[in-house]
Amino acid sequence: MRGSGPLDGDLRIGGAKNSALKLMAASLLAEGSTSLTNVPDITDVAIMAELLEAMGVNIERTGQRIDIDVPSEIDPVAPYSLVERMRASIVVLGPLLARIGRARVAMPGGDDFGSRPIDMHLQGLEQLGATFSYEHGDISGQADRLIGSEVFLEFPSVGATENLLMASVLAEGVTVIENAAREPEITDLANFLSQMGAQIEGVGTSRLSVKGVETLSPVTYSVIPDRIEAATYLSALAVCGGQIRLQGARPDHMEMLLRKLEEMGMILEEDDSGLLATVTDRLKAVDVSTLPYPGLATDYKPFLVAALTVSDGVGMVTENIFAGRFRYIDELVRMGAEIRAEGRHAVVRGVERLSGAPVRAHDIRAGAALVVAGLAADGETAISNAHHVDRGYEDLAGKLSSVGAQVTRT
Ligand code: EPU
Repeated sequence: MRGSGPLDGDLRIGGAKNSALKLMAASLLAEGSTSLTNVPDITDVAIMAELLEAMGVNIERTGQRIDIDVPSEIDPVAPYSLVERMRASIVVLGPLLARIGRARVAMPGGDDFGSRPIDMHLQGLEQLGATFSYEHGDISGQADRLIGSEVFLEFPSVGATENLLMASVLAEGVTVIENAAREPEITDLANFLSQMGAQIEGVGTSRLSVKGVETLSPVTYSVIPDRIEAATYLSALAVCGGQIRLQGARPDHMEMLLRKLEEMGMILEEDDSGLLATVTDRLKAVDVSTLPYPGLATDYKPFLVAALTVSDGVGMVTENIFAGRFRYIDELVRMGAEIRAEGRHAVVRGVERLSGAPVRAHDIRAGAALVVAGLAADGETAISNAHHVDRGYEDLAGKLSSVGAQVTRT
């Protein structure tokens, strides 16, 4: 890609990766045909489909719709070959234990974010009566029938909340999840489960109360739009200037982000079709600190750092969710960014322009942040390991080039 701008045009926001993956896992809870619409055509969704197919589920994709046919007999195994490619595979644990009382799932191991334990998932499920054993890198879980209980999460973990929610909907009695994560994707999962017949109170709050039912029924459901994809385009606009309309975006899912962007000088207007964003001048630097929802999502941070590299002033960035999520900073420095990072903090001093360079993507969001940086750089930037970006974005290069960015995928 090359330095670009100003951007101009409309972009349609696709379905949320981090919701679609969980709804696919949740479909295991009901025998029969579940259909999901607004499902992005991305690698992580294909991996989740492969995982379900390995369990005996039949999946057909038609455009943005997938039909998931869940048989009465499921082989409850998530092999390392798939879990290694996508950590989110761990969310099949809750539904499998709830539906058939058995699961064998490979342990995910560490990744580019540093160590990522699943202790809260397992402790919570144990409180519902599951027992676990460990062998050859796999966790095997057993439960005759899960029994409702009160689970207090030490931290509002997205994945642990989802696993517990999916486990508790078929448990006997009432489960209360205290300090539950409140991300919009969790509300989407709760709405999906409720439509299937689950009884959930407190949706959207940090206290979820679930009254278990005997069975759930398959439904047709539309995935919410991807707030992280929307944030990626807004960050591209931040460095390129211009005006873009994000069709289908949900501003109510991104309030903290929009406040930050307004503080930087972006002009935002909501209308029925989504969000209109305008940048006329160089943006001002702000401080950024990640927190669980409704705080500023850790997933936005790489793009915000990319935007800060060319903003006016100095921004202090603090990562409070993942200890090791700063690796892309070395790549930005190769492009001429002035960043000093230590531990959970980084200080970004804005420069006028970056300088295009060959760089490497370490994960989905880091890859997208390098794309944003490349749009603010003189000359050409070539990103290797770009397959990481395909895990979470459907045609990022095509969409950005449709609004005037100079970016191609080879
Ligand atoms: N944690 C534990 N123990 C646990 C679970 C989590 O210590 O049992 C820690 C993690 O190590 C981390 C923190 O708690 O430090 C938060 O982790 P969380 O469980 O909330 O994250 P996740 O479920 O693994 C999801 C998204 C991430 C997103 C985070 C935070 C999916 C598939 N992934 O991960 O998205 O960054 O929530 O919002 O939903 C991405 O889309 O690129 C991505 C990484």
